[in-house]
Amino acid sequence: MTDKEFERIVRYTQSHYGIDLSRKKVIVSGRLDNYLAMHGYPSYDAYMNSVESDKTGAEAQNLVNILTTNHTYFMRETDHFDFLQKVVLPELREKNSRTHDMRIWCAACSSGEEPYTLAMILKDFLGLDYPNWDTTILATDISRRVLENAIKGVYLKEQIESLPQRWQHANFTKLDEGSYQVKKEIRDNVIFRQFNLMSPLPFKKKLDVVFLRNVMIYFNEETKRDLINRIYEFMEPGGYLFIGATENIDRSATDFCYVRPSVFMKGRQTAGNGAM
Ligand SMILES: C[S@@+](CC[C@H](N)C(=O)[O-])C[C@H]1O[C@@H](n2cnc3c(N)ncnc32)[C@H](O)[C@@H]1O
Repeated sequence: MTDKEFERIVRYTQSHYGIDLSRKKVIVSGRLDNYLAMHGYPSYDAYMNSVESDKTGAEAQNLVNILTTNHTYFMRETDHFDFLQKVVLPELREKNSRTHDMRIWCAACSSGEEPYTLAMILKDFLGLDYPNWDTTILATDISRRVLENAIKGVYLKEQIESLPQRWQHANFTKLDEGSYQVKKEIRDNVIFRQFNLMSPLPFKKKLDVVFLRNVMIYFNEETKRDLINRIYEFMEPGGYLFIGATENIDRSATDFCYVRPSVFMKGRQTAGNGAM
């Protein structure tokens, strides 16, 4: 891959998806080489011509499927789920007791482990009251490939082992020796949609909780700042934003208040346990 070819791909992914691959040449060529060989493209430029001219968007979608990193797992960054259960959900139950809804967006959901973890926590938290609440989680990602898997909700035994035994029994159906499917009751509580975080946000109602974890690591500072500020506009006062544990946001450029590491809130200075 020549520098010029690489720069073209970097420019494309940056401007369309916010993904900054400028320091990932080895990964980019490693991931694309097989695809180009299998589909008979003579060069990277020939491939990019096809990506840019394909009006159906199918080739661009393949590029996204190939170049995004989708690593995720159930209960990732457990501290967040503890805080959600102990602080955020009790607050929301009280705050929304009249409407009986909780509006939760999982903004880069990959293959579904994160929104399904959230759905299981909600069910556990609300207990017998669960059917009386609308806790539908919107889960979005740019990659259609991972969303297809997410919708099926089928995982290997090793993938669900980080969940408490009780949850494994209550929320999964065994398909065969090695694989398990998330029960319909939990799947029905998550709506999966393809959505590019660079697009205008589509919400009519404001959000109570946003999980935006481990996706901004692929964005540059400007893209991150812009996204965080757009999300802020769509959050309820007192709403919580969770980002990945290794991520950060430029606090001087946002109105979000810091609550605890990788947790932020709209509009109030203090919140629950561990607030600062
Ligand atoms: C590493 S995964 C994180 C999954 C999950 N949030 C977690 O923390 O385990 C990052 C996800 O962000 C998605 N992504 C990258 N750029 C995106 C964009 N512009 N819009 C929406 N999703 C994007 C990728 O497809 C990928 O599935």
